[in-house]
Amino acid sequence: MSAFETILTAPTPVAWVEVAAEHWRPLLTDHANCEKKAASTALALIFAYPEDTALGVALARLAREELRHFEQVVRMMQRLEMPFERQAPGRYASALRRHVASAEPRRKLDLMLIGALIEARSCERFQLLAPRLPPPLGAFYTDLARAEARHHELYIEHARANAGDSDWERRLRELAQVEAELATSPDTELRFHSGTLSAPFTPGSRRGALAAATALIS
Ligand SMILES: [Fe+2]
Ligand SMILES: [Fe+2]
Repeated sequence: MSAFETILTAPTPVAWVEVAAEHWRPLLTDHANCEKKAASTALALIFAYPEDTALGVALARLAREELRHFEQVVRMMQRLEMPFERQAPGRYASALRRHVASAEPRRKLDLMLIGALIEARSCERFQLLAPRLPPPLGAFYTDLARAEARHHELYIEHARANAGDSDWERRLRELAQVEAELATSPDTELRFHSGTLSAPFTPGSRRGALAAATALIS
C-alpha cells in the first residue's frame, strides 16, 4: 500500500485522470503555481512556529525542494514555448483552509494534517498521470510522486509530534472527508487538485496534446 492510501479517504475519479492526461499542457501552469504555493506555505509555517526548530529545519528543506520543483516545471514550460499566464487558483486549498481551527494548539495540528493531505493527493495524482504522459514529463512526474510521498510523511510525523492528548487520527479522518469531497465532486475548473469537471474541457486556442507531446520529445 502506498503512503497516501493510508490517509486519503477517496481515490481520484477516473474521469479527472482522463481529462488531465489529455490536457496536461494547460495543467502545467497550475502545477507550477502549486509548487510555488507549497514552498510559501512551508515558509509561512516556519514564521508561525519559530520555537519548533525541528519543524523549521524540516520545512526549510521542504521549501527548497518545492522551489526546485517550481524551477523544473517552469523550464519544462519554456521548452514547450508556453508563456506563463496568470491563472486563478482552484477552490481546493482555500476551501480546506476554511476548516483550520483558529485557536492553538488545534490550529497547528490542523495545518500539519492539511499539509499531509495535500501532499498525499499530489503524490497520488503524479502517480496516476506519470504512465499517461510523454517520457520527459512522465519520468519527471514519477520523481515528483516520490518527493510528495516524503513530504506527506513529514507532515504526518509533525502532526503526531504536536498532537498532545488530542485524538489526531480522528481529526485526520474528519479533514480527509473534506479533502475527498473537494477532490472528487463536480468542479468548474481543471486544476491539479480539482474535482471532476462539470462541463467538457475547452482548451481554447492552445495546441492539442499530440502536438505538445511531439514538442516535448523532440
Ligand atoms: Fe513539489
Ligand atoms: Fe511537496
